[in-house]
Amino acid sequence: MWSLVRSFLVTSLMTWTSAGELSFSATAQQRGEDVDMSDVEFVPIPPRQHHDQGPPLRLHPRAERDSVSYSGNWCGASQHSTLSDPITNVFGYFTAPSLTLRSNVLAPQFAAAWVGIDGASCKQALLQAGVTTIVNSNGGQSASAWWEWYPDSAYTINGLPVKAGDWISVNITTSSPTSGKVVITNAQRGYVMVLTISNGPRLCGQDAEWIVEDFYDAKGQVALAKFSDVWFEETAAVTSRGRRIGINGAAMVQLQDVDGAIACASSKYDDSTFVVSSP
Ligand SMILES: *[C@@H]1O[C@H](CO)[C@@H](O)[C@H](O)[C@H]1NC(C)=O
Repeated sequence: MWSLVRSFLVTSLMTWTSAGELSFSATAQQRGEDVDMSDVEFVPIPPRQHHDQGPPLRLHPRAERDSVSYSGNWCGASQHSTLSDPITNVFGYFTAPSLTLRSNVLAPQFAAAWVGIDGASCKQALLQAGVTTIVNSNGGQSASAWWEWYPDSAYTINGLPVKAGDWISVNITTSSPTSGKVVITNAQRGYVMVLTISNGPRLCGQDAEWIVEDFYDAKGQVALAKFSDVWFEETAAVTSRGRRIGINGAAMVQLQDVDGAIACASSKYDDSTFVVSSP
């Protein structure tokens, strides 16, 4: 279904085009040295429905008090701006989820953490990047980085070094509602990848998100593992007018499972820091 055309412009730059629509190029450096992009592989995976699956988030203008919202698949923070002053940048540091098996739940189990634009109110698009960790029945875990411009394909990034517990940063900057730059760094491993994307699905710029997710794959919602606290730090969004927003006034989202139990909760520390915990 996805015809991928790969062309090497120079060894450190790679361009992928899918079906003549969304296209992207990637460069990476590790400890200051250009990474040979033939060692990096973008593996398309079916688009995942990462949008909030809960009741509508109660989104508050900045001046109002922080609110608590419930979701069927998210824990974290969702910040809101207006269509007249859309969000054009979102940034955050977070730890790649470190997992242990939840008892009485089949393995494998998962947790994803990501930063994105437009996960809540804009149903037509969502630009995001993050890390998914999987824990197998023997307790062994592995993590991988990915990015997605929903409803286009998601890509697992093979070759971007990441282990559970690593500090990752994601910096998404749009240059138009359909183009932008995604910078994923693994601070601990001195790795920086820059993705330049064009012809993406049109963003609204209405919300910024910092999320730990019990996501859906082709077979339905995956089993959420137990995870060590995931801290989000230096969380900030910037609007087209240059207004800088932290998480003050954001919807702090708690994941409530089908039985009504809280599967994970987020608590704010200050305007740029919060923690997501699993009970
Ligand atoms: C994110 O990237 C933009 C564009 O490259 C840059 O201007 C901004 O300083 C970056 N933000 C952070 C927090 O590094």
